[in-house]
Amino acid sequence: MVLNESLDKKIIPIAGGKGGVGKSVLSVNIALSLAVSDKKTIIIDLDLGGANLHTVLGMKNTNPGIASYLQDKNRSFKSLILDTPFKNLQFIPGDTLSYGMADITDKQKKEILFEIQDLDADYVIIDLGAGTSFNTIDFFLISNSGLIVTTPQAGAVMNAYTFLKNLTIRFLQKAFASNKKMEAYLKKNIKRMLPGTNLTLAHLLHEIGQEEPETMEKALTYLEVLQPKVILNMMEEKEDFQMAANLAGLVKKDLLVDMECLGAILFDRNIDDSLHNRHPFILEFQETLTAQQIFRIGQKIAQSRNFPELPLDYSEYRDSFELSQIETDNDFELYEQIKAAESQPDNGGYDVDQLLEVIEIQQKKIQELQQTVRMMGLGDKAGPGGLFNF
Ligand SMILES: Nc1ncnc2c1ncn2[C@@H]1O[C@H](COP(=O)(O)OP(=O)(O)OP(=O)(O)O)[C@@H](O)[C@H]1O
Ligand SMILES: [Mg+2]
Repeated sequence: MVLNESLDKKIIPIAGGKGGVGKSVLSVNIALSLAVSDKKTIIIDLDLGGANLHTVLGMKNTNPGIASYLQDKNRSFKSLILDTPFKNLQFIPGDTLSYGMADITDKQKKEILFEIQDLDADYVIIDLGAGTSFNTIDFFLISNSGLIVTTPQAGAVMNAYTFLKNLTIRFLQKAFASNKKMEAYLKKNIKRMLPGTNLTLAHLLHEIGQEEPETMEKALTYLEVLQPKVILNMMEEKEDFQMAANLAGLVKKDLLVDMECLGAILFDRNIDDSLHNRHPFILEFQETLTAQQIFRIGQKIAQSRNFPELPLDYSEYRDSFELSQIETDNDFELYEQIKAAESQPDNGGYDVDQLLEVIEIQQKKIQELQQTVRMMGLGDKAGPGGLFNF
């Protein structure tokens, strides 16, 4: 396992447990928002069971990918890197053509992890598959600061929680791999943490602490290293945001892991349209509120001097959740205004005065957002204006 912090290059895996929550769409669009901020970015399709990033990027699936690399000893990993139509963004495809790629050996996994660490880029974004298989978890653990995507639906939130739980256990098992006693203890007790039981990692560590306080202290120090970030996708109402906060609360209480929030994204049918048109969403629909939300997440990463630390101004808000909550409240206010203007019966849905009013409000909100971003020390790049020109 490699810790992101010790590398110049930031490796950011994206997972979430549940299928269809938007991992691939967000991988591509976040990678693009880093690329437009002049960051050399490589995006990798590591959803080895169902690689589809090429579709989201609008590229053809004709080049060899990870599966070909694993099957052909003479092929170098770097030879898989493709230029995309977008400046600063390169792509390593996953190969959908080979079967059985979801199951790879430990040796192959280590090879891939080694090669990823050796890539030349400011950011490496890794799209992972759904589920909580060891492969997915081990790829997620290539860095200490992967992103967890969930929707507000209870099932998605629970899957995200299960992913984080399995991740935390595997992380501790690896961290204690040379401590035979602790390794055996974890192995024996993990069975007691299966779904349906109420034994949590926090309970388990408490038990360990009764007998071996030093081992518990060590485990707590290890856990501080994990700094996953959550993104709430497909929000439909303001109250949905609470689900992200609830998830983080549970993760802190039961798994003793601090998870910050990178932001929330509206449900937006234009995302499906952009997939259909095979053109990345934040480029095709750059004027939309949703594109701005994704771009804002990209900016929080790009402008962080030492990601996973977020550039937050704690005099303005308590933590990353409060900031995301403020952003979300503003976004919904704007969203309601736009919807109200669109639903006017005159002029095919638009009243000119009302539309002008909405635009004015929108501009004001963008200025406020820029102000927030400036306060966060993120410079003047908050708005998409001009930044999307390749
Ligand atoms: N914010 C959003 N609003 C509306 N639709 C969205 C949003 N985000 C993603 N989608 C849609 O959800 C579907 C699934 O997205 P995507 O393929 O990115 O999910 P995934 O998590 O990568 O799925 P899988 O687990 O199968 O890899 C797509 O049709 C996409 O257009
Ligand atoms: Mg996907």
